[in-house]
Amino acid sequence: MLERLHSFQQRINQVLETTIAERRNTMPERLFDAINYSVLDAGKRLRPALTYAVGEALGTPLSLVDAPAAAIELIHCYSLVHDDLPAMDDDDLRRGKPTTHIAFDEATAILVGDALQAMAFDLLSQATELTCMQRLEMIRVLSRAAGANGMVAGQMRDMMAEHTPLTIDELRRLHQQKTGALIEAAVSFGGLASTQANEAILHGLERYGAHLGLAFQIQDDILDVTETSAQLGKPQGSDERNDKTTFVSLLGLAEAKNEALKHVSLAKSVLQECHLHSDLLTDLCDYIVERTH
Ligand code: IPE
Ligand code: IPE
Ligand code: MG
Ligand code: MG
Ligand code: MG
Repeated sequence: MLERLHSFQQRINQVLETTIAERRNTMPERLFDAINYSVLDAGKRLRPALTYAVGEALGTPLSLVDAPAAAIELIHCYSLVHDDLPAMDDDDLRRGKPTTHIAFDEATAILVGDALQAMAFDLLSQATELTCMQRLEMIRVLSRAAGANGMVAGQMRDMMAEHTPLTIDELRRLHQQKTGALIEAAVSFGGLASTQANEAILHGLERYGAHLGLAFQIQDDILDVTETSAQLGKPQGSDERNDKTTFVSLLGLAEAKNEALKHVSLAKSVLQECHLHSDLLTDLCDYIVERTH
């Protein structure tokens, strides 16, 4: 499984590098450098890996999955650059190196996020290997997942909940929006890029992605407490420093782990229910809760 993940990482890194280079045109050099700095690095590329793995499970050529997978990762990278800003989590380390606002400056980091978000939709709109209907549907799905009812909604809830304890249901909704929405879109994109996926599969993929997304953010909350900054490549204890409500702060470590495992097991049952037999999609569930960074 790790070998497959590695090969997807290499593939998407190449696509991302080309995508940015092709759009250099009239970009100021400092912006080009800051965009490359924020995207081309040691990210795990889990979201693109999910898009590729679903595409592969449905027999889709990976060349049809490149643009959707890269679009998701561009949105994810933008969300990280903004998440680390002093006005948000105020973190100085990301993917093992200084965050964009430290390496460049705050204004540049804000603009990098803005540029990456637009670039994601530009890339999708120009993915001529997909039909117009496929591209339009992906733009619809991604704009909803990233926007004011998706990732941005989750980030807003996360900020509003600083110093204010939430109920477990409120926290679940926060995580579903903040992290789940984009992971769900990554999974759905694998289905939308395929001609094999019927309504039942697409619906199953949405549910698989939702459980995976929740498990992923619960594990992120756990790692913030259990690992070192060196291992994480980002500052350990960021949540506690910012007084965040997390699964660990609400439930404690052991119960948070159980909750993550519960969603992983639900994700696996969805695969069975919709007859999507893929060792890779099953193994990715385990990876999400076994990872140490
Ligand atoms: C970190 O995401 C932010 C969350 C949504 C929890 P990842 O753990 O996927 O970060 P990278 O892309 O590998 O750096
Ligand atoms: C941020 O969640 C998720 C997004 C960037 C949307 P966190 O704030 O927990 O992510 P990390 O821990 O900084 O990667
Ligand atoms: Mg945050
Ligand atoms: Mg953060
Ligand atoms: Mg975190």
